[in-house]
Order: sequence, then structure tokens, then C-alpha cells
Amino acid sequence: MPSKLNINGRKVDVHSDPETPLLWVLRCELKMTGTKFGCGVGVCGACTVHVGKVATPSCQQTIKTVGNNPITTIEGLQGPQANALREAWTRIDVVQCGYCQSAQLMAASALIQGNPTPSLKDIDCAMHGIICRCGTYPRIRQAILEATGQLKRT
Ligand code: FES
Ligand code: FES
Repeated sequence: MPSKLNINGRKVDVHSDPETPLLWVLRCELKMTGTKFGCGVGVCGACTVHVGKVATPSCQQTIKTVGNNPITTIEGLQGPQANALREAWTRIDVVQCGYCQSAQLMAASALIQGNPTPSLKDIDCAMHGIICRCGTYPRIRQAILEATGQLKRT
């Protein structure tokens, strides 16, 4: 019997074993490859999605543990905060190789949804679990600050 997941606002039947990590369901069964595989053991953050409103490493959740909680992936990330972040990301040219960047956007959007005026300390605290091997951290910080500044003005 398939399990039902709530992904990006849609109910989706999945046939993977209930103990399968969400990351593999997204990438292998559903072909949603915007969520990246880095370490598979919860230390790099590349696989970050939202479960509910919380930025969560999808390699550390199974179909069973996620249950009915709404899941948002980079493919479904939308709304004013996401748009402001994407615009700032582009304007500042944050991305280098790009591998970590969907996770960075997922973590940043979870942060500013809960805290519209984060300090540098808040940003570092929220983002520290997402490793960027290209070292784009200063531009990520700047983009988050610019996005929140723009949201405040609108
Ligand atoms: S792949 Fe999930 S934390 Fe690294
Ligand atoms: S942009 Fe290359 S790993 Fe972050």
C-alpha cells in the first residue's frame, strides 16, 4: 500500500519502504533533484527541506517520521520571502558551484519566515548547519540582510 506525503501543497502517493529516508524518496522516486545528497548522515545540510516550517535535513527523516507534516522543497518554495531571497541571491551573485544553494535558500527562508529582522548572529546560528565548500558564506549573509531589508520596505 502506498504512503501519502504532502509535498509542496500536493498529496503524493509514494511506494518506497516507509523506512526510506525522505531524501531518496524525493530524488529517486519522485525525481525532484533540487534537493541534494551530500553526506547522507546529517552533517552537511545539502539535503535541507522544510518539514512544517522547520529547515530539516531530509536524509535524517523517513517517510514514516514525516507522516502528514507538510514538506516544502526548493521546487515548491514560494511567497514574498522566497522571492526577496532569490532576487538578492541573483543581485549579489551568491552562487559559485551551486551544489549547496538550494539548501541555503531553504534554511534562509525558514529563518526569515520566523524572524523577519535577523541579526548577523541569528543568521550564523540558523545557517551554520549548511556547509558551502565554495565559501559563499559572506555573500549569503549579505543576501539575507538585503532580502529582509527589502521586505521591510514593501
Ligand atoms: S545529505 Fe543530509 S545532511 Fe548531508
Ligand atoms: S556554492 Fe559550491 S558548495 Fe556552496
